[in-house]
Amino acid sequence: MSQRAQSLLLYTLFLVPAALCWAGERNLRDLHEQHLKARTIVSDPTQLSQTYDFIIAGGGTAGLVLASRLSEDSNHTVLVLEAGDTGDSVISSILVPEYAFTHSLLQTSYDWGYNTLPQPYAGNRALYWPRGKVLGGSSAVNGMYLVRPSHIEYDTWANLMQSQDGGLDADAWSWNGHYPYMKKTETYSPPVPSVQSVINIDYNLDFHGSDGPLHASYPGYVLPVVGDWIPTLQNLGVPEAPDQAGGQTWGSFVATSAINPNNWTRSYSRAAYIDPLPPRSNLDILVNATVTKILFDSNMTATGVQFGIVKGGPVTTINARKEVILAAGAIGSPNILMHSGVGPKDVLTAAGVPVLLDLEGVGQHLQDHISSSLVWQTTAATMGSQYAAGAANGVPNGQSSPFLSFINSATCYANSSILMGSYDNAVSLQQTVLGLLNSSMANFTSQDPGVLEGFKALYLANAQDFLTSSVGQVEFLLFANGDFTPGNQQTISIQFALQHPFSQGRLYITTNDTFDSPSLDPRCLSHIADVTLMRQAVKFARQIAATPPLSTVLGTELSPGPAITADADIDAFVANGIQTEFHPANTLAMLPQNQGGVVDARLKVYGLANVRVIDASIFPVQFAAHMQWPVYSLAEAGAEIIRTYYNGVPDPFDPNGSTGSNNNSTNHNNNGTNTKSGGAPSASAPSVFTSAIALLFAALVVVL
Ligand SMILES: Cc1cc2nc3c(=O)[nH]c(=O)nc-3n(C[C@H](O)[C@H](O)[C@H](O)COP(=O)(O)OP(=O)(O)OC[C@H]3O[C@@H](n4cnc5c(N)ncnc54)[C@H](O)[C@@H]3O)c2cc1C
Ligand SMILES: *[C@@H]1O[C@H](CO)[C@@H](O)[C@H](O)[C@H]1NC(C)=O
Ligand SMILES: *[C@@H]1O[C@H](CO)[C@@H](O)[C@H](O)[C@H]1NC(C)=O
Ligand SMILES: *[C@@H]1O[C@H](CO)[C@@H](O)[C@H](O)[C@H]1NC(C)=O
Ligand SMILES: *[C@@H]1O[C@H](CO)[C@@H](O)[C@H](O)[C@H]1NC(C)=O
Ligand SMILES: *[C@@H]1O[C@H](CO)[C@@H](O)[C@H](O)[C@H]1NC(C)=O
Ligand SMILES: *[C@@H]1O[C@H](CO)[C@@H](O)[C@H](O)[C@H]1NC(C)=O
Ligand SMILES: *[C@@H]1O[C@H](CO)[C@@H](O)[C@H](O)[C@H]1NC(C)=O
Ligand SMILES: *[C@@H]1O[C@H](CO)[C@@H](O)[C@H](O)[C@H]1NC(C)=O
Ligand SMILES: *[C@@H]1O[C@H](CO)[C@@H](O)[C@H](O)[C@H]1NC(C)=O
Ligand SMILES: *[C@@H]1O[C@H](CO)[C@@H](O)[C@H](O)[C@H]1NC(C)=O
Ligand SMILES: *[C@@H]1O[C@H](CO)[C@@H](O)[C@H](O)[C@H]1NC(C)=O
Ligand SMILES: *[C@@H]1O[C@H](CO)[C@@H](O)[C@H](O)[C@H]1NC(C)=O
Repeated sequence: MSQRAQSLLLYTLFLVPAALCWAGERNLRDLHEQHLKARTIVSDPTQLSQTYDFIIAGGGTAGLVLASRLSEDSNHTVLVLEAGDTGDSVISSILVPEYAFTHSLLQTSYDWGYNTLPQPYAGNRALYWPRGKVLGGSSAVNGMYLVRPSHIEYDTWANLMQSQDGGLDADAWSWNGHYPYMKKTETYSPPVPSVQSVINIDYNLDFHGSDGPLHASYPGYVLPVVGDWIPTLQNLGVPEAPDQAGGQTWGSFVATSAINPNNWTRSYSRAAYIDPLPPRSNLDILVNATVTKILFDSNMTATGVQFGIVKGGPVTTINARKEVILAAGAIGSPNILMHSGVGPKDVLTAAGVPVLLDLEGVGQHLQDHISSSLVWQTTAATMGSQYAAGAANGVPNGQSSPFLSFINSATCYANSSILMGSYDNAVSLQQTVLGLLNSSMANFTSQDPGVLEGFKALYLANAQDFLTSSVGQVEFLLFANGDFTPGNQQTISIQFALQHPFSQGRLYITTNDTFDSPSLDPRCLSHIADVTLMRQAVKFARQIAATPPLSTVLGTELSPGPAITADADIDAFVANGIQTEFHPANTLAMLPQNQGGVVDARLKVYGLANVRVIDASIFPVQFAAHMQWPVYSLAEAGAEIIRTYYNGVPDPFDPNGSTGSNNNSTNHNNNGTNTKSGGAPSASAPSVFTSAIALLFAALVVVL
């Protein structure tokens, strides 16, 4: 999503009348508290064991998938350390889909609330980057879009790893290799008839899972205007995508959402993977616990982690028998790694952190989908107008759980031929991009020869595999939340977000305290191709708005307004308006070691015997997709890699690889010559609020 959000166009302040509190609020909370008691979610560090087989840093999207899957093996003990709270006291903000907009947890203590460094090409603004800080992580606060990356993007990922290991391991990350894990995550439910009659979803059950933990479905109510989306794009020559879960992800469609249609609640990693479990004595989950560093022996074997509760407070050490797994997200995981002494030598030295392993790729390749929107007056019903009508009439629609499950989900991934006006124009842009390779390398945030090789590989993949292919370059989203203040003019927005940026940056630490935010520098819009594509996106969004049937319900363009038509003015609007689409990633990229990669094809950090990273950090490329589905399926695949290894089962992707019959972490001292081993621990030689209350006071309408 993103966004559904886009934006946090914080454009309205409104009072949520207490009377509108959802009647299900109390029941939801009771239910969750019961679940908690059945689970081993603990709040007191003294309840922990001293040693676990696996310690997972971060109980977010990926972290709770891993916790659930790894603890299915009763002979493994698993600990999750999560910096945020349980979320129980704000559970309705998490579970009621529409509350993601109207009672958002963004900018509360459940949000890390990062800010980037001022971005020189984006009006020198520091961009707000929210991340969930709660059990479930960002899956608890996101916009619930569930879309898969395309088969082209997965195959590019696998190709990027072919030069390593003869490509054997890398097949796991191709579309065909990874597809089973995408399906394994989900239970798909088609739309209910009243919704299907509006959106007419072209779904294909063959592409979907039917017994996975995560619910992939649709809201229980849709606004009529959503039904205008696909016909409008068709009238512009952009066909409807077949069910995008099959890997052809371009074109227009109404996306699946992470919604449980049994009770119209958010399906997120905790509700999907943890709450339904029977009690497991081999799984502990500690909240309010911030991992501050990984501890290593002299052979770069992780022996455990330290965590603290508050900045400046005492830290506790817990031992890991087998592995430490980082799942703290694209910002949190590199932060922990660098504070553990693993990262670019100059960064660590400047921050006052002793260097254990100079790993130059850590924190590099930081990318995000940048996003903006155009706003029109509308005569169509919006969530705001429907909600206000509910308030005025006493009870209607406005409180039913199907109604409150509405979230935006009409989307379109447009390729560069569409954006540039023709395929020839797209090829011309590609030539420009290829001609800028050397200059882009010279400008990159690392000049380490290995990392630069990786940058080059990623840049060429982006230019050659994506830029002139059918893969979406820009995502367009219909956003119909409107204005919740009764009587106000209703609006509809079209959001647009760049999917494959050529701009790349980095994140890095500047202090020796893990509680401090790292410096985030994505260098948004630093590459001219990104400026060009965003300019074309503004023009295409206007074409969408001017095309029937959507055009028949839209009035005056309110933002940026009809006066902004010259390219320079559009560019300035984009530069001064972009926000995050909430998809920062790529900071611990899976790439070959000689290309400055951080993890190998088995998700293991190069040079460390038994540390893996399994979260949005490791994707080498950005996808034309929202980020959570790829994270869920990555975590499913990662859990299987780990379990097969430790259970002595042959690795499905590497029949000749070794297994974990040796499960003693202290014996994990080989130096990485066996890079193909199924994740065999092998240190490759390095160069060394209170619930309802939130509903009672004036809330910021965060427009997701
Ligand atoms: C507002 C918003 C809207 C979004 N909308 C969508 C959408 O609609 N669809 C979609 O597909 N994607 C969306 N995304 C993106 C998607 O949710 C994330 O990319 C994805 O969930 C990331 O998963 P993760 O496991 O990498 O990290 P997270 O889910 O963020 O998990 C990381 C966890 O680690 C914890 N942590 C961090 N540091 C430490 C530490 N030192 N010690 C212990 N714990 C730590 C965090 O508190 C967090 O719980 C959105 C994201 C946001 C923030
Ligand atoms: C929602 O329904 C599922 C069954 O599909 C159930 O397991 C879950 O507990 C319910 N959640 C809430 C909050 O009622
Ligand atoms: C986590 O910390 C917060 C803030 O100190 C506190 O209010 C909350 O009760 C803690 N959660 C648990 C489960 O102890
Ligand atoms: C551990 O448990 C898994 C699944 O229960 C099983 O397949 C595996 O053989 C077990 N390993 C050992 C060493 O007992
Ligand atoms: C590190 O590896 C060496 C060589 O294999 C071994 O002799 C030594 O015991 C190991 N040290 C530790 C702490 O495991
Ligand atoms: C880029 O640099 C390489 C070697 O440094 C050179 O061979 C190549 O011609 C350069 N390409 C361009 C487009 O300048
Ligand atoms: C590299 O940086 C220079 C100087 O800032 C700038 O003029 C040039 O456009 C940049 N090149 C690319 C490809 O971004
Ligand atoms: C881009 O999309 C349009 C519309 O579907 C299609 O006609 C065109 O062939 C696509 N371009 C590429 C390169 O796939
Ligand atoms: C961090 O740095 C400060 C000084 O900058 C120093 O006093 C402190 O001891 C350091 N902490 C650690 C854990 O190294
Ligand atoms: C791992 O070692 C422990 C004892 O050290 C043993 O009980 C267990 O069965 C082993 N598991 C595997 C998968 O080898
Ligand atoms: C596994 O090893 C055997 C014998 O060494 C070899 O013939 C076979 O090709 C290998 N398989 C793969 C997938 O590399
Ligand atoms: C694991 O370590 C224990 C003692 O540390 C040792 O007795 C056992 O043989 C080791 N197992 C393997 C498979 O190396
Ligand atoms: C890793 O081990 C291999 C085989 O023992 C050895 O040839 C190589 O020099 C070692 N590499 C490093 C960097 O220690």
